[in-house]
Amino acid sequence: MEKALEYALRHQEEFISQMEDLLRIPSVSTDPAHKQDVIDAADWLVSHFKGLGFETAEAIPTEGHPIVFAEMAVDPALPTVLVYGHYDVQPPDPLELWDSPPFEPVRKGNLIYARGAADDKGQVFMHLKAVEAYLKTGTALPVNLKYMIEGEEENGSTHLPGFIKANEERLAADVVLVSDTALFGPGVPSITYGLRGLAYVEVTLTGPDRDLHSGIYGGAIENPVNALARLIAGLHDEHHRVTIPGFYDNVIDLTPEEREGLGALPFDAAEWARDVGVDHMTTEAGYTALEGATARPTLDCNGIWGGYTGEGAKTVLPSKASVKISCRLVPNQTPEEITEKIRLYFERHTPKSMKLSFRDLHGGYGVLVDTKSPAMSSAQDAMEAVYGMKPFFVRGGGSIPVVADFKKLLGLDTVLMGFGLDSDAIHSPNESFGIDRFQEGIQSIIRFLKLYGAS
Ligand code: BES
Ligand code: MN
Ligand code: MN
Repeated sequence: MEKALEYALRHQEEFISQMEDLLRIPSVSTDPAHKQDVIDAADWLVSHFKGLGFETAEAIPTEGHPIVFAEMAVDPALPTVLVYGHYDVQPPDPLELWDSPPFEPVRKGNLIYARGAADDKGQVFMHLKAVEAYLKTGTALPVNLKYMIEGEEENGSTHLPGFIKANEERLAADVVLVSDTALFGPGVPSITYGLRGLAYVEVTLTGPDRDLHSGIYGGAIENPVNALARLIAGLHDEHHRVTIPGFYDNVIDLTPEEREGLGALPFDAAEWARDVGVDHMTTEAGYTALEGATARPTLDCNGIWGGYTGEGAKTVLPSKASVKISCRLVPNQTPEEITEKIRLYFERHTPKSMKLSFRDLHGGYGVLVDTKSPAMSSAQDAMEAVYGMKPFFVRGGGSIPVVADFKKLLGLDTVLMGFGLDSDAIHSPNESFGIDRFQEGIQSIIRFLKLYGAS
């Protein structure tokens, strides 16, 4: 294994310039205008796998975007690791806030700037380079390897559960390994043992059948923007708790041991607030900011529109008002249950003079993974060897819906060993990834495969 570790160090420059080629492909999954770019990114990965000597590597078409599947079987007696990641990216808008074009990677010191650099192309690429390091140094692979890299993660992974169900055999493995989360801090390793789920909806209130003169009708016709604002304001109480009946019914609360673990992390809430330009954090009563952001359910309006918002004045009483709402869920809340409870809230409170339209956009389940499995121990030991300190166990506030499907459909646990940082600005302008973390990731993966193979 030493040879493989050393090979990765020695080839860093070459790896980075290859990664830049992948980052140049604008594989924005949510935008139909980029359909061919998404296909190109899938094909790029397939030919990269082939170049490494993979005989099985293909881009499998779905009703949506292709799923890249690759496999390197060495010995049926060895355990099998299924690596999951995504090659699609978020839209880069607003473009004017980028210091350099999002699909023209630029290196500044340790950082490489491009959409997808950290989420998730750069992290996926670490896995290709880790296996390359084994193959090119003639180091025997300690495990069988399968890779499933999808192109719809940023768009709700719509076709992935169907693909998994139809390909149970092909995906059979002992554990799933994912690098799509963050380190606790620079040089501070962590393993994510929980992710939140998601319930995502859109609500529209419609009053009059067209925008009206607010002088002629104001005072006699109820205003949908006013009404929606009132309904939204009623969604939280003064303790920052969600008021929707039954919202917390199925929440598994943090255990005392978990709270102790999270409380012991070197985390400074005041600094975290300052990083995003506010002077303090605001959290559900009784919980710390870190608990609120990773282990408690939330309800957030993502965007709100209706009436006239253009330049200057146009005094209308609007016909419609809309809002998109995302809830981050924790085990054992389900997206179906929470979506239904939100729908009932809006039905109950919609004024009689208005019509309600309610769209379920998508959902995903939260997960908690066993921190005591052999794979988790291998990940801990691998990261400890690279970073010189034991990784912390943390919960992630974001969502990777397929992790729950791996458990439900394939019975597989997932190890979330990610190398991002909050400062990578994923989903934001000027996304970046650290070249040091790219290398730390490769070194950690090489070591993980070895340790897990021997476990
Ligand atoms: N990699 C992120 C999820 C993530 C980010 C987990 C940070 C932990 C820490 C993933 O690509 C993502 O953005 N997921 C979406 C969900 C999806 C259904 C659109 C999310 O969390 O909003
Ligand atoms: Mn991601
Ligand atoms: Mn993402």
